[in-house]
Amino acid sequence: MIVTIDNVLTSEELVAIRSQLQQAQWAQKISAGPQARLAKNNRQIPEDDPHLNDLRVMVMRALNRSQTLMTAALPLKVMPPNFNCYTGDTNAYGPHTDSTLRPLPDGSYLRTDVSATLFLSEPGDYGGGELSIEDTYGHQTVKLPAGSLVLYPSGSIHQVTPVTHGERFACYMFMQSLVKDTECRRHLYEMDLSLIALRQQHGEADADLVRLTGLYNNLLRRWSEC
Ligand code: NI
Repeated sequence: MIVTIDNVLTSEELVAIRSQLQQAQWAQKISAGPQARLAKNNRQIPEDDPHLNDLRVMVMRALNRSQTLMTAALPLKVMPPNFNCYTGDTNAYGPHTDSTLRPLPDGSYLRTDVSATLFLSEPGDYGGGELSIEDTYGHQTVKLPAGSLVLYPSGSIHQVTPVTHGERFACYMFMQSLVKDTECRRHLYEMDLSLIALRQQHGEADADLVRLTGLYNNLLRRWSEC
């Protein structure tokens, strides 16, 4: 399931984030598994950069506001977001899947169920740089306005096509979902969208809606792990 979410960041947050991105140092070939590292050719802000913490706080605050992200990803744990830049000779990330287990700062591990890319450059500011994802329904190509985000299964084969001119800044993160099965997560998401629409038409107290909401909760109870 691929879900796009518009305007995750406000224009003020984008300005603040871009200012930090300009001041950060950038490094190559970090944070990928052995196979993905062969495909990875971009630059990233290293862990010891003093700007990284502020950037992460700004992004996490924005993610926590997004009701769509919560219902689509059902996040249990989120990896601290990372920031990358595609430009010049370091301009692409070939086809790969995201490695399954990632160490967290507290020493525990996160299972990557859902990957997210938050676009930080406007699409007109660079050529190429599409995120291409192999989905159940074929290839999906994603290039979103700055401040918008896409969620996709971490196990899907995906790539960033070469940036032909300009700079493409983005933020990416991995989430462990309460519901690890992608199809179960999709059923819950679609059901939740219908419940939201029905509540607007019939009000919270409608007896059938109470029953359907109970069904959603019982499926979540059955399928979630925490
Ligand atoms: Ni990836």
